[in-house]
Amino acid sequence: MDHLHLRYAGTSVLLAFDAGEAEIVHWGADLGGSIPSLGLLSPPIPHSAYDVPVVAGLLPQASSGWLGRPAVRGHRTDDGGVPGIAFSPALRVVSAEATLDGRGARIVQADAAAGLSVTTELALHEGGLLEIAHELTNTGGGPYQLEELAAVVPVPGDAAELLDLTGRWCRENHPQRQTIRQGTWVRSGRHGRTGHDSSLLVAAGTTGFSNRSGRVWATHFGWSGNHEQYLDSLADGRRMLGAAELLGPGEVVLGPGESYRTPVLYAAYSDRGLDGITDAFYRWFRARPHHVDTVAGRQRPVVLNTWEAVYFDHRLEPLVELATLGAELGVERFVLDDGWFRGRRDDHAGLGDWYVDESIWPSGLTPLIEKVTSLGMEFGLWVEPEMVNLDSDVAREHPDWIAGPSAVSHKDGGRLPLEWRHQHVIDLANPDAWQYVFGRLDALLSENSIAYLKWDQNRDLTEHGHAGRPSVHAQTLAYYRLLDALRAAHPGVEIESCASGGARVDLGVLEHTDRVWASDCNDALERHTIQRWTEAVLPPELVGAHVGPTHSHTTGRVHDISFRAITALFGHFGMEWDIRQATPRERETLRRAIALYKRHRALLHSGVRVNADVTEPHLALHGVVSQDGTEALFAAVALGTLAAEAPGRVGLPGLDPGLEYRVEAVLPTPADGDWQDTFAHVSPPAWLADGATASGRFLAEVGLPLPILRPEHAILLHVTAVG
Ligand code: DGJ
Repeated sequence: MDHLHLRYAGTSVLLAFDAGEAEIVHWGADLGGSIPSLGLLSPPIPHSAYDVPVVAGLLPQASSGWLGRPAVRGHRTDDGGVPGIAFSPALRVVSAEATLDGRGARIVQADAAAGLSVTTELALHEGGLLEIAHELTNTGGGPYQLEELAAVVPVPGDAAELLDLTGRWCRENHPQRQTIRQGTWVRSGRHGRTGHDSSLLVAAGTTGFSNRSGRVWATHFGWSGNHEQYLDSLADGRRMLGAAELLGPGEVVLGPGESYRTPVLYAAYSDRGLDGITDAFYRWFRARPHHVDTVAGRQRPVVLNTWEAVYFDHRLEPLVELATLGAELGVERFVLDDGWFRGRRDDHAGLGDWYVDESIWPSGLTPLIEKVTSLGMEFGLWVEPEMVNLDSDVAREHPDWIAGPSAVSHKDGGRLPLEWRHQHVIDLANPDAWQYVFGRLDALLSENSIAYLKWDQNRDLTEHGHAGRPSVHAQTLAYYRLLDALRAAHPGVEIESCASGGARVDLGVLEHTDRVWASDCNDALERHTIQRWTEAVLPPELVGAHVGPTHSHTTGRVHDISFRAITALFGHFGMEWDIRQATPRERETLRRAIALYKRHRALLHSGVRVNADVTEPHLALHGVVSQDGTEALFAAVALGTLAAEAPGRVGLPGLDPGLEYRVEAVLPTPADGDWQDTFAHVSPPAWLADGATASGRFLAEVGLPLPILRPEHAILLHVTAVG
């Protein structure tokens, strides 16, 4: 066999074996059934170069002439008499077989002299999403110290621009874009968690690729620990998009027969811009058997979270008032945030002591939980299980459970990492510490009627060690194990991944949790961009989105209720606001927004995400179109003052050109207090009052004149097929 051709959902991956090692010679558009003899792809040999063609392998390696970043890096200090050879392996194919009815492949490559074997699993999934993971085994006689095992995919020469995401606390997932040039571009994450600045997506595309056009090759690295993502662009014109776990010195030392498995590299190809990449990820997510059930049965409940409502001020009576008002408005899940456990009156103490604080909850959480459930809502609870304050009983009793760079505890002279929000990290690689944390959470879930855990994580894992060695790798796996053990013991309990907002948002954690908290910023303006790019990869049903206070706590901006509600509607909708302070008109609009969410959540959480290409810099038009094209919701959003006097006509993308549609504005309406405000007290276009009827083709190609939106205002349009 000289090649394997994986084909699925419009994507091809062509693997060649001519050179003795595996090489992805094509990843992109479906190639059809006929593949020529692949010898024709053998490149010319340039001047001042190796005398043989260089192979850009599935595991690029120097032994085949690859001068870029190698996939396997490691060495042996004791290699049983063959010094040195393991530092530069020459891996060759031992076996290659098709799997998953031709959608996948398993390839074993080995170098017996180096004592290394690598098994690679590739699989094309729904939406054409490609998964790649390697497992390296030490087949030699002595220990092998692994420095890096990377997964890569080739990107063709016509990809000219690179887009990735970055951010910080309260400003996650903002795009940055650049021209691809020669050299290696690297994004490193040393946070010990995914990181606020981690790139959820790395996308290389043809010149000017946009939301709806251009060819794009994109990757995501499914890991919640240290990592690097890179684009290696070589002098010979070849490019590799890659990612690897960033291992600390001596962090992974494999004894004979031991293995290391990489996190999964996900790769999506689109010939219709970024929306095609998004579609591939959504289809993959939604095809998972454990994906939250959004269409039938269990739809995403409306959440009321207490954080920005009461912070640490936990008192039964106001919380009951909040819950009662929430239930009246239509809330379905009430989440008690930070502040309920022993000693936790502010953020200086208590983490680790996962017992209900008797001084503020003398009868435990039961009175609140009973009230919440009697109002017909589920109860959710905030926890931060991987963390510990020095001011806690657990830290006083078990100083050796606190992770740090020293082999001994700080009580025995060891050094602790710098404090961050007055807290440290529990060493989950210590089986006793892991068991303690599991035991406390298990007890809380067993003793109380809790349907949901908001699992927070509020510091980076810096200088994170176990027994004097770096151990973010072990910690991350132990954290995943903890989630799995709790889910197995308490099936049905949903878990949210929160980390000071969106510092742990990745496909690795989402294999063990049910939604993410995208950001601590509930300012709808900021949130619009954060959600647009978080949802470039994650479907909205996995992205918590809350209506925040009128006066944003994190930015100080003031936004109308309809703008805040429209923004939150494009996620897993909730609110995080002392709604007792809301004006009667705000409450009315909130009630209507909740009803709209309930009416449309099956559509919002199953449909195709679309983002129009709009030239007006401060205008966005995005939406969700049902899979059968018969219904859609669109939001037109003014992110700032518009350059033109009026936004003009904007096409509605993604509708069926052959269907006739009715378009109606559903939020705000003339009944809402902010209707006049939204349109700058200027009459909106005539069609807005009674709606418009036109074909999908007309709506896409000609579009509808949008109202003159005031900056930081939005309008929600409901579109249904008629006739
Ligand atoms: C950070 C989270 O992101 C917030 O939503 C809130 O839960 C606080 N931690 C509580 O300490």
